[in-house]
Parts: sequence; structure tokens; C-alpha cells
Amino acid sequence: MKILNVALPKGRLGEKVYEMFEKAGLGCPAIKENNRKLVFENPEMGVRYFWVKPSDVAIYVERGAADIGVAGKDILLEYSPDVYELLDLKIGKCDMAVAAKEGFQDDRNKTLTVATKFSNIAKRYYSAQGRDIDIVHLNGSIELAPILGLSDVIVDIVETGATLRANKLEVVEKFQAISARLIANKANFKFKSERIEKVRAELLKQTEIEQ
Ligand code: PRP
Repeated sequence: MKILNVALPKGRLGEKVYEMFEKAGLGCPAIKENNRKLVFENPEMGVRYFWVKPSDVAIYVERGAADIGVAGKDILLEYSPDVYELLDLKIGKCDMAVAAKEGFQDDRNKTLTVATKFSNIAKRYYSAQGRDIDIVHLNGSIELAPILGLSDVIVDIVETGATLRANKLEVVEKFQAISARLIANKANFKFKSERIEKVRAELLKQTEIEQ
């Protein structure tokens, strides 16, 4: 049996995703040993897992180092990797949103300064409105930017809203629902289509049960 190479996003979401793969019949018990190993293989089941930084999953899959993987819709929208998006796993749900300091009033005559990790998403969102913006690209702790006057607004992910509240920011608009997606390398999908289709079908059943 050909080994199926799976890139999982490291962290809490990845653990949920692994549980789904385990239920789908692709268990790899060694993965639950709490150590710093990044590759786990179960030759009997013909599967190999890699723990990958969540924002890198699509790169591994696009380049074929992994046959399939799980990436957030945010990453797929931001980087537009050349991969197949096979399934919405209906987990890791959150929203892409514009947020600003409480009471912020947008002056449409002025260029809006936008801090974000998601520069492409932000540019598309504002260009669709014909709004002039200046992007400040940051890599994390985006909520700091309006507090320190680095930007007028932020474009970022909101899940519970706790980070915004703790920093006296508020949602201006939620404009894109986000969730985890099963993705596949286009060439490898052809070689391993039967196995990948089977995994997709098993995972689909689980998303339907949870609805
Ligand atoms: C994400 C996001 C927000 C936060 C939203 O940050 O950028 O900061 O989670 O979640 P909440 O609405 O439940 O508070 P992450 O933890 O990925 O860290 P980062 O700030 O370094 O991007």
C-alpha cells in the first residue's frame, strides 16, 4: 500500500483534526506520545503524519511533500495555493473581520491605515469598496496596532472576541466565515485518488453527524 502523507496543523485544531482522521480509520497511536517528534508513521494503516506550523500546511501540500493536509480557509484565501480544496471540516470556525478602537469613526476622505497578517485579503476587501488603504503588514498581536496608533483598523481573525474586548477594540464588520479545509496536492491526488477519496468520504460523514 502506498503511504498517505498528511500535514496536520500543530496545536489544538490539529489535535481535533487527528481525532477525525483516527475515526476515519487512519489511527497512529504514537502521535499521542507527548514529545517533540514531528513525523509519525503507522505502516499497517499506510499513513504518515507531519506536525506543521498551521500557516505552512498549504506549502507542504502545494509542493507535494504532503499528499493531503488541513489548512484554515484564511490561509487559502490569503496565499491562494495551487491545491484542491476537498472538504469543509466544519471545525476551527471563526470570522475574518475588520475591528477598530471602540467608537472609531471612519473618515472616507482619508486613506485608511490597516494592520493585518492577511494583506491580500484586506486589499481585496477594501478594493471591492473602492477604498484607499495603506497596509501595515504585521505577523502577530495585530490588536496592538490601533492601540498604539500604528493603524486605524485591523483585519484579523475573531473567534470568541475575547482578545478584542480585552484590548477595548470592537468589530466593525465580520466579512468572511473561516473554517478548516481538507486540501490535496493536485498531482498526488491522481496517484492516490482512491485513498484520498475514501478519507474525504469518511471525514464528510463526521462533519454531517456533527451538524
Ligand atoms: C488569533 C487572532 C486574534 C485571536 C482571536 O491570534 O489573530 O488575535 O486569535 O481569538 P479570540 O477572538 O477568541 O480572542 P493568535 O492566537 O493566532 O495569535 P497572534 O496574535 O500571534 O496571531
